[in-house]
Amino acid sequence: MITIKDKFSIQKMETAGKYISEILHTIAPLVKEGVTTAELDKWIEDQLKKNELISQTMGYHGYKHVSCISINDEVVHGVPHEKKRIKNGDLVKVDVCASWKGYCADMARCYVVGTQELKTKQLVAVAQQALDKGIEKAVPGNRLSDISAAIQDEVERHGFGVIRDFAGHGIGKKMHEDPEIVNYGKPGHGPVLKAGMAFAIEPMITLGSYKVYVDSDGWTVKTVDKSLAAHIEDTIIIMENGPHIITRFSGNERVI
Ligand code: MF3
Ligand code: CO
Repeated sequence: MITIKDKFSIQKMETAGKYISEILHTIAPLVKEGVTTAELDKWIEDQLKKNELISQTMGYHGYKHVSCISINDEVVHGVPHEKKRIKNGDLVKVDVCASWKGYCADMARCYVVGTQELKTKQLVAVAQQALDKGIEKAVPGNRLSDISAAIQDEVERHGFGVIRDFAGHGIGKKMHEDPEIVNYGKPGHGPVLKAGMAFAIEPMITLGSYKVYVDSDGWTVKTVDKSLAAHIEDTIIIMENGPHIITRFSGNERVI
C-alpha cells in the first residue's frame, strides 16, 4: 500500500531532507585522497547527532554504519571501513538515510576525487540527468512506470547501463515503503500517482554492463565487468502542482 502523507508528515520529512542535504553538501571537500570511508562515516554520524537525526541504516538487518560509501565499480551499499582509503580519481558515492521526529529522507550523491576523467564526469552527469527526467514524471495522474521509463531512456540514450537488481522505493515513517521504483521499463504501467506520495528515486548506472553481484561482505554491490558505476538519489513528495524535491538545499542542487 502506498501511503499518502499529510502536511505534518511532509514537514518532518522536509526537515530530515534539509539536514541530510546540508551534510552531503558540507562533506564534499572532505571526500579527498587519503581519507578512509570509516572516517567519513564517523563524520556523518557526528553531524546526524547534532541535528537530532536518527540513522535508518544503523541496525538495518545488522548493518553497522550511518552511511553507505561505494567507490568506482561498487554501485551501492558499500560498507565504510578503516582500510578503505580514497585515491585520486575515485568516483565516490555517499548514501545517507535518516529520520527527523520519526520521518525519513534518503539521499545519495557522487563525488569525484582530484583528477576527473572525462568518462567519469559524463557518467555522473547522465545519472543526474536521468534522475531529473524521472522526477519530472512524478506528477499526479501519471503512472509509476513513467518515472522508470524516463530514467532508462535517458541512461540508454547515452549508451550506459541501468542496473536492474536494485531500485528506488516509497519512503515515510520507514526508509523502505511501497512501491518499488525500478529504473527501467515501459511507460503507462503501475499505480496512478497521487499528491502526498513520497518517493526515493535512485538511478544506478554503469559505463558497461548492468550485471551486478553482492560482495563477500554481504552488502557491497559491485559490477560484474568491473565497470564504473554512478548512483544519485533524491527524496521527493508528489504535490498537486508537481514534484517537490526535499533533498536539495544549501547549494547542492547539482551533484558534484
Ligand atoms: N539508503 C539506501 C537506499 O537507498 C539503503 C541502504 S541499506 C543499507 O535504499 F543497509 F545498506 F544501508
Ligand atoms: Co533509497
